[in-house]
Amino acid sequence: MDQKEFRLPDVLAKSSPRVGLVLGSGLGSFVDRVRIGYECAYSEIDGLPQSNVPGHEGRFVGGELGGLEVLIAQGRVHVYEGWSAREAASHVRIMAAAGVEILIVTNAAGIVNGNFKPGRWMLLSDHLNLARHSPLTGGPNFIDQSTVYCPALRALLKDEQKELGGGILHEGVYAWVNGPEYETPAEIRMLRTLGADAVGMSTVPEAIQARALGLKVVGFSCLTNYGAGLTNQPLSHSEVMETGEKAAGELCRLLEVCIPAMVEIDNE
Ligand code: HPA
Repeated sequence: MDQKEFRLPDVLAKSSPRVGLVLGSGLGSFVDRVRIGYECAYSEIDGLPQSNVPGHEGRFVGGELGGLEVLIAQGRVHVYEGWSAREAASHVRIMAAAGVEILIVTNAAGIVNGNFKPGRWMLLSDHLNLARHSPLTGGPNFIDQSTVYCPALRALLKDEQKELGGGILHEGVYAWVNGPEYETPAEIRMLRTLGADAVGMSTVPEAIQARALGLKVVGFSCLTNYGAGLTNQPLSHSEVMETGEKAAGELCRLLEVCIPAMVEIDNE
């Protein structure tokens, strides 16, 4: 991190989390599973953007999950709120400065692949940056993007998921669109043609930023709803939040088991 960009609060400077988690819409209850050591509101950090979107709290929580120290960013800001992609990835630069080496990014997403089921999680295999913004605008340039989402960590998560009884994880391509409106049926068909399995309005700036800083990245989409035209139901943010809240417990159980093993892989 550019040292002049943010002053790292003492609680973060003194902590030593190797794993960081970014929680998306409706997934804030995840924090209830963590033994909380400290909290730090985004408003306590000068220059850190803050969200006004319901379901995005706006604080860092440090604590223990699965026996390991983790740093959670509860809430993010989005490009659709008027922030730049670089601003939308600010919390990732802070997490990296606090020592995070593995970043787990979560979001709520709409289903584009009609074989996928609402209420389930999709592990990101790759993404499409269709919003065409980058957190790296202005440098560093030409960062390799051939494996944004760590193959070894994905393999571990899929294996562990099978052990736990399966059923939660799809795997696929996440398309980042600008929003803030949901898609039209024609746009959902276009996204499918382009190779997307799910669509959402976040995550990609964070993943690009994290890779540029040398972090390993894992991404999870909570498939909260069918994309427009795949169902007769109109989409609503409250439906997205409700499904996210129900599904949060399942991901948390998986991560509790996997986080220690993820750190082991990182040591290899
Ligand atoms: N489209 C875009 N973003 C989303 C959706 C959707 O259907 N659901 C949750 N986030």
